Amino acid sequence: MAVCLARPDRAAHASIANRPHALLPRADSTRVDADADAVSRGYAFPTRTMSRRPSLLAKLAWFAPLGVLTIPADRYAPELAAATPPASVRASPVAATHRRTVELTLTAAPTRLSLRPGGVTNVYAYDGQVPGPTIELREGDRVVVHFRNQLPEPSSIHWHGLHLPFTSDGGPFHPVAPGGQHDYVFTVPPGTAGTYWYHPHPHHHTGHQIAMGLYGAIIVRADDDPLPATLPEKLLVLSDNRFRADGAIDLADPRSDHARMDAENGREGDVLFVNGTVRPTLTIRSGEVQRWRVINASAARIYRLALQGHDFLHVGSDGGLFERPVAVREIVLGVGERAELLVRGTGAPGSRSVLQTLPYDRYIPQTRPADWNTPRDLLTVQYSNEPAVAPIAIPAVLHPVPALDTLHATATRLMVLTQHLINGRSMDLARVDVRAPLGATEIWEVENLVGMDHPFHLHGFRFQVLDRNGVPEPYRSWKDVVNVPRHETVRFIVRYDDYPGKWMFHCHILDHEDHGMMGVLEVTP
Ligand code: C2O
Ligand code: CU
Ligand code: CU
Repeated sequence: MAVCLARPDRAAHASIANRPHALLPRADSTRVDADADAVSRGYAFPTRTMSRRPSLLAKLAWFAPLGVLTIPADRYAPELAAATPPASVRASPVAATHRRTVELTLTAAPTRLSLRPGGVTNVYAYDGQVPGPTIELREGDRVVVHFRNQLPEPSSIHWHGLHLPFTSDGGPFHPVAPGGQHDYVFTVPPGTAGTYWYHPHPHHHTGHQIAMGLYGAIIVRADDDPLPATLPEKLLVLSDNRFRADGAIDLADPRSDHARMDAENGREGDVLFVNGTVRPTLTIRSGEVQRWRVINASAARIYRLALQGHDFLHVGSDGGLFERPVAVREIVLGVGERAELLVRGTGAPGSRSVLQTLPYDRYIPQTRPADWNTPRDLLTVQYSNEPAVAPIAIPAVLHPVPALDTLHATATRLMVLTQHLINGRSMDLARVDVRAPLGATEIWEVENLVGMDHPFHLHGFRFQVLDRNGVPEPYRSWKDVVNVPRHETVRFIVRYDDYPGKWMFHCHILDHEDHGMMGVLEVTP
């Protein structure tokens, strides 16, 4: 059944707020073929009201496995002069079911939107929205997406991080002509609940089309999610852009110095967006624990996230939850990466905090931007005036991440990164760079020889990082992008399950990818 997606009122998205939850019971086994709710038009997710009745465990500790984190509330004095005006956010309920077909239509077309206050800009948008509609799926869903390309140029939709058949990957092998359409059909494998995203992937033009506004979030939910279903959930899609004085998106003239700088560093913009809005406000109640899903949809920017006065409990990465939560002060999120975090509302009712991205030096000194070391505000976290809720216990054990066994690896692939090249080669669609049989387990050793970070991405198959510069990864997680810092080497292990085809691997700095920093892994049946 097709989903009708109404054109949203952008004003409705000015802040990230809770919305009464409308989930069916998780155990509900009613067959649901309709999917009218699989695509949400807003940026927040259904939430349930927090239980006011603290469990015994909750009284003992908040992050039970990690001891009690107590931070005095008086550290959270209001620090911002002005808050973004609150507004409602639309979100859709999710139907819990065993197996269902989710069928929807996504149309990419030029349109005009106000991305920033006071200006209207020519953009490309999925269904008239930037970012595009959030697609909410469940493990086991069969997904059919009818893509209509109404852009004046070839495009595609790539389902970043999802494990699916080659013909539905939406990579550069499968461009959709202007005016054309394509059906992407895949089933979401069990065990892959996590945060993903979608974006175009036309050869040489991915950066341009994402800059114009084509990107959106995908949430895959599990029936056996170990985190309490009562945690209010928030989605934060991070991006940045650059605008000309007349309000148009500033795409550098290919012959300009600016373009050369973009080609080197990757295009960064001075305007930072969360869910397509500049510095929105997210509300939290004192004592509440929120589950945040964060997506780095920027072309080149690496985020170093910190929330003033708060710690994060890092619970998941690209392909879903960790085995155990990890308490951290900051989270570095490379291009294309995702993080799942728990944020505890340790602030006092009525107080405020700011989510920032702190300086992260990913550049060679010669082209490092002058303002690289300035912290940038992303989001205001506003405490409601309601009294604090009682703490809630977070499970010490989340979701198993079974280790891929290095003893089963049949090959080690060396990938040497230099500026715009992998193993000294530039991308050629007619060439296969690596060939491997279906079902093989391999180790990839990605060595960055240059003085700039390169976030490395593999299509089709998720992997586990083994070590960085020889230091074993402290815990396992499912990844599809790993940032390889300057002059460092990262090793990961991957198994080519299920799907033969020609899978891309590339640097996810879009300018690097578009300039050929990409190769082809052919998995043969
Ligand atoms: Cu997110 Cu090849 O892409
Ligand atoms: Cu991808
Ligand atoms: Cu790169």
